[in-house]
Amino acid sequence: MNYIKRHAPEILALLGAFFITSFLIWALSQHATIGLLRVNGFYKLVFLAFGVLGLILLAAGLCYLWIKTKKNIRGNCWLSALIIILSIPAIIVPPLAFSFVGGIFSAAFVDTPPQLMMTGITGKYGIPDIAVYFTTGEAVSGYTLTWGDDSGNTTLTENKKTNQHMFILNDLKPDTRYHYRIDNGQIAYFSTPSTSGQLHIAVASDVHYGSENAKNDMTAKMLSEIADPANGFDMFFFIGDLVEYGFIDNQWEEAFNSFNMATSVIPTRYAAGNHDTLFSGLNNYLNYCVPEGLDEDAEARLWYRIDIGSTHILVMDVEWSAETYTKAQAEWLEQQLQSIPEDDWTIVLSHGFYYASGQYSNGWNWYDNEETIDKITPLFNAYKVDLVCSGHLHNLGLLEANGVKYAVCGAFGGLPEPEPVYISPFSLWETANQYAFTDIVIDGDACTLTFRDYNFNALYTLTFDQNR
Ligand SMILES: [Fe+2]
Ligand SMILES: [Fe+2]
Repeated sequence: MNYIKRHAPEILALLGAFFITSFLIWALSQHATIGLLRVNGFYKLVFLAFGVLGLILLAAGLCYLWIKTKKNIRGNCWLSALIIILSIPAIIVPPLAFSFVGGIFSAAFVDTPPQLMMTGITGKYGIPDIAVYFTTGEAVSGYTLTWGDDSGNTTLTENKKTNQHMFILNDLKPDTRYHYRIDNGQIAYFSTPSTSGQLHIAVASDVHYGSENAKNDMTAKMLSEIADPANGFDMFFFIGDLVEYGFIDNQWEEAFNSFNMATSVIPTRYAAGNHDTLFSGLNNYLNYCVPEGLDEDAEARLWYRIDIGSTHILVMDVEWSAETYTKAQAEWLEQQLQSIPEDDWTIVLSHGFYYASGQYSNGWNWYDNEETIDKITPLFNAYKVDLVCSGHLHNLGLLEANGVKYAVCGAFGGLPEPEPVYISPFSLWETANQYAFTDIVIDGDACTLTFRDYNFNALYTLTFDQNR
């Protein structure tokens, strides 16, 4: 006991430095933290302050030891007081921060309602197999799914205990109305897309469930428009920032319960947003949005391809800027683009944007992103991608560069950006302070893209031909 008392200052200093270093190493090893530090000036400062505090403590501890060996008592008293004051936050804050952003007290899963998810596996009639997917807080087994069309029913029964319940509806026929129900629950209906007529896609981004600034009533209105059979949407892509903090369980619960009005009747898929994967959020994103078995390439998960007849949708993992655009993803992207016939439609979706109008904010230019433009768009140009949709920037815009159309559609309920200060030279149209989503109709050689507000009114429409 006496030994601890005698050496308390240097023990506290080293403990504080150790806690800070451990937290920083853990945080920096998380999926999207590097992007957070590069793009967000506030968090950069917080991390820097933490690092400096750790260094000061380490130096003070060593200095204290050195003074002690010289038996300078006055120096000891002064320095030990400083060490005690600095080491208190250094010992308390990192474990608290870790338990909050590391989700260590979180449930492994929360209950989420059944949703229809397009798989990356194309059935024998040329459209994706569809998964009915839901999660339960408890691992259970024995759920049944009954599904079919007018010609009959199939019943599938789960036979292993799990939190993740997935039933695959395979070899679906195009342009057909199907029904499904879990156990004796409510019967739900959905229709498959046509492979010869129009293909009708809804794309939206940035709700931020859990944020006090999220306009959930606007999101609900837009979800009901997407779900409305009269509007005839075949599929829905939500491309990131579904929740404010991906490491908080009940934000996912709120998100899926709210989205269910659309996702129970319109086959849906997601792209990862920087808020979804923040700190320990990546696991939640993977568990809820890309359960294993949804795509053929089970390893990638954060990027995948959906084929519907002659329309090919490549969903990428671009979150803050180009940090998550790895060599593996670049190789995958090029392979996919190479394999798509020239006369087919190629649509790329990602959370992070490329060309955009916007403003400087918090240490970052939120417009024409030089990094994503330099690193990624040369492939779009080389393979004549037709349309790229992204979010992240909470406004709306349509741009064209090198024959590729770029739609910015991050206005599904998150706090709108201010009016753009910088107008991109590639801009065709932009607006701010709107809540809207993107309505895309592919019809033969033409694509009609419409930004629709929460009343389903068209804010802007453009019909364009394929990029040839
Ligand atoms: Fe966002
Ligand atoms: Fe974002």
